[in-house]
Amino acid sequence: MFSVSVWLHDSAEADFGRARTLVAVTARPDSNFLAACRSQPHEVTPVWFMRQAGRSLPEYREIRGPGSIIDAIANPDLSTEITLQPVRRYGVDAAILFSDIVTPAHAIGFGLDVVPGVGPVVEKPFASRDDLQRFRPLDAEADTPYVLETIDNLVAELDIPLIGFAGAPFTVASYLVEGRPSRTYTKTKSMMKGDPELWFALADRLADLAIESLLSQIAHGAEAVQLFDSWAGALSAADYEKYAMPHSARVLEAVKATGVPRIHFGVGTGEFLHLIAAAGADVVGVDWRIPLNVARSRVPEGLALQGNLDSSILAAPWGVVADEVDAVLAANGGHPGHIFNLGHGVQPETDPTVLERVVERVHAYRG
Ligand code: CP3
Repeated sequence: MFSVSVWLHDSAEADFGRARTLVAVTARPDSNFLAACRSQPHEVTPVWFMRQAGRSLPEYREIRGPGSIIDAIANPDLSTEITLQPVRRYGVDAAILFSDIVTPAHAIGFGLDVVPGVGPVVEKPFASRDDLQRFRPLDAEADTPYVLETIDNLVAELDIPLIGFAGAPFTVASYLVEGRPSRTYTKTKSMMKGDPELWFALADRLADLAIESLLSQIAHGAEAVQLFDSWAGALSAADYEKYAMPHSARVLEAVKATGVPRIHFGVGTGEFLHLIAAAGADVVGVDWRIPLNVARSRVPEGLALQGNLDSSILAAPWGVVADEVDAVLAANGGHPGHIFNLGHGVQPETDPTVLERVVERVHAYRG
């Protein structure tokens, strides 16, 4: 199905004080998704959806069962099936691993759960220097064997690339510090500015977790990775640059040598898209707030864009949705570096048949 090559990874050595051998999967010549990630010519605009697995799918609700998503993630057969469900139904060009951005922090025993309808909730939020003791390096093979077994299953099964992912230090830190999803990020911002040394120590540990997790996912066959900094848009450009970007840049730099495309995404980051790009991305994720032609003017030549249909309009009549899909494609203007996606994740109430039609329409487009 694909060929493999072996790399010795220097930054991981620096990060963890030990050498790592990485298996990087070379590009499938037939993947429109990987070609678009590299801004190379290809036939059809590739499309996948953030949060394509999960609550909007009746088949997901049927097999998911009660209990925490953390338990579902720890079950490789279930996670494999949930990852495959949207691939079968939608005919998307990439699969995204069924896991969560808090999986590594949970795996090292930070004490958190993901509560249905709420999101990540931390038993004892991160508040002081003493809490740094609650971190230890992630050993992905030992701590998250279920994630890697899921990836092994998927790589054997899929004929499209699998996207691995991690949460960016800022976004994961926001959960650990606030203790639950927040609209204001008051505690996070207070720590950032009030005690930058503590903030940087926390963000550094979270960068380590993300690096180890991403390298292990790539070693097991993930052919692209996405760094989710979903809530980075809560920061000003200056604060992002100072307090968040250096840690995300370290994560993205650490996976660079594997050669897999790196997608870097955050909501509300249009004002500092140049920084999202400069952090070290091959593909910049764009939310629904700015058109792709404007986004293109804010990132260097040669970078690909991913996005950016507003997920909230998917409930409108089909004619409206179709026009919006066409507008996204038109704003891209036939550039080879475009992966069609939503501006953020699929919302739970989305009718899956609408997403099926979106995929058909994107694939039928010849720009
Ligand atoms: O299909 C996919 O995109 C793959 C799986 C995936 C999940 N979470 C599964 C999930 C991915 C990529 C994530 C990443 C994630 N998790 C992010 C970044 C992506 C984004 O949308 O910005 C964030 C911020 C989280 C944290 C998180 N996990 C939230 C805010 C929630 C929602 C809580 C809720 O129930 O409303 C979750 C839970 C979660 N993660 C679900 C799924 C399918 C739904 C809950 C469930 O089935 O129990």
